[in-house]
Amino acid sequence: MITIRSGIRDYDVNFEKTTGFLSELDRTPQRLYAIDENVWRLYRGTLFREVDPCDVFLLVADEDRKTMDTVFELYDHLITRPSKRNTTLISVGGGIVQDVTGFACSTLYRGINWIYIPTTLLAQADSCIGSKTSLNYHDRKNLIGSFYPPSHIHVYTPFLETLEDDYFFSGLGEVVKLAIIGGEKSMTEMVGLLPDASRRSPDSLFKCVERSLLIKHRYISEDEFDTGKRNMLNFGHCFGHALESATHFSMPHGQAVVVGIILANIVAKQRGILSDRLFNFMADSLLMPCLTTKPKRSDLNVGHIVSAMEMDKKRTGNDLALIMVDDRYEMSKVTDLKPDEVRDAIEQYVRMYPADD
Ligand SMILES: NC(=O)c1ccc[n+]([C@@H]2O[C@H](COP(=O)([O-])OP(=O)(O)OC[C@H]3O[C@@H](n4cnc5c(N)ncnc54)[C@H](O)[C@@H]3O)[C@@H](O)[C@H]2O)c1
Ligand SMILES: [Zn+2]
Repeated sequence: MITIRSGIRDYDVNFEKTTGFLSELDRTPQRLYAIDENVWRLYRGTLFREVDPCDVFLLVADEDRKTMDTVFELYDHLITRPSKRNTTLISVGGGIVQDVTGFACSTLYRGINWIYIPTTLLAQADSCIGSKTSLNYHDRKNLIGSFYPPSHIHVYTPFLETLEDDYFFSGLGEVVKLAIIGGEKSMTEMVGLLPDASRRSPDSLFKCVERSLLIKHRYISEDEFDTGKRNMLNFGHCFGHALESATHFSMPHGQAVVVGIILANIVAKQRGILSDRLFNFMADSLLMPCLTTKPKRSDLNVGHIVSAMEMDKKRTGNDLALIMVDDRYEMSKVTDLKPDEVRDAIEQYVRMYPADD
């Protein structure tokens, strides 16, 4: 178990080896469920056979549904119930279900009790801790949100067996990102785990999830409200977000982050803070092996990527921002990245990893 100290309320992550926790949770007074419809379809006859369907609100995990409209539907469902502020919502699903239900729990009756069971690799290894809830607004991602952690998180890694490959490898990208941020030891351990983890061997997945959360915990415990150190968790995301928007989100998020890390590492190499040796080690042993959706040549359009980086909501100055890792395995953020460096990095990437199209 990990206990997380939070300015809002302390909360814990419980690593479950068996399904007994589900029966226990079902005995929580005044509990209701909000469950990803795919997860419900896959597990209603097995893991959730004790759950009364009348107590379940189903959610469609689609970015277009990560909006206030879905939150309103959930409010409507919850307010018809006899329980009010004393309701406990148990939500089950990936990051979309987490974001929608977390936002609803943080606002309905000024906050109701919330228990979360993450079911995707991204949600188990990364998003379930850190207190953030986000909704999309118009065409902007994660524009609305709050800080509100669940009171308890239950991580059961066998859920990952049924995850589609795209989502699985997208989550693996974030796992690798955290392993690099964690420093030399965690990076080396991840190199050992990656082949088994890619085959979804239960032991290695459990270790990946546990280690990722421990690393993320180090960063959020010092900066829960994202004003400094926590920024480093955006490693790979400066280029990654730009690549996602340049590809109209056809690249899975965590895969764009992997390419984003390689591009950031090219810049770090050009700036003389990262050696060829460490660059190649990361690329060959960690990053390329989990890149299953490679960007097309047309996706790597310098103009599109620079203008998307200029739109980054975390940007402050005139130049572009970038998070990099150096030869001492230390992370730093620069805010003086020039469009020419972006161009050079993309051109080098294309030479090193020619696209198939
Ligand atoms: N709040 C945060 O801190 C935070 C952090 C990172 C990302 N996010 C958000 O998370 C979202 C992405 O979440 P995600 O990658 O976890 O995926 P997701 O919630 O989008 O789900 C992906 C797909 O997997 C299905 N699914 C979920 N669990 C399954 C299982 N066990 N077996 C089979 N199918 C399953 C879903 O129905 C969906 O089709 C984005 O909206 C992102 O903005 C939030
Ligand atoms: Zn991410």
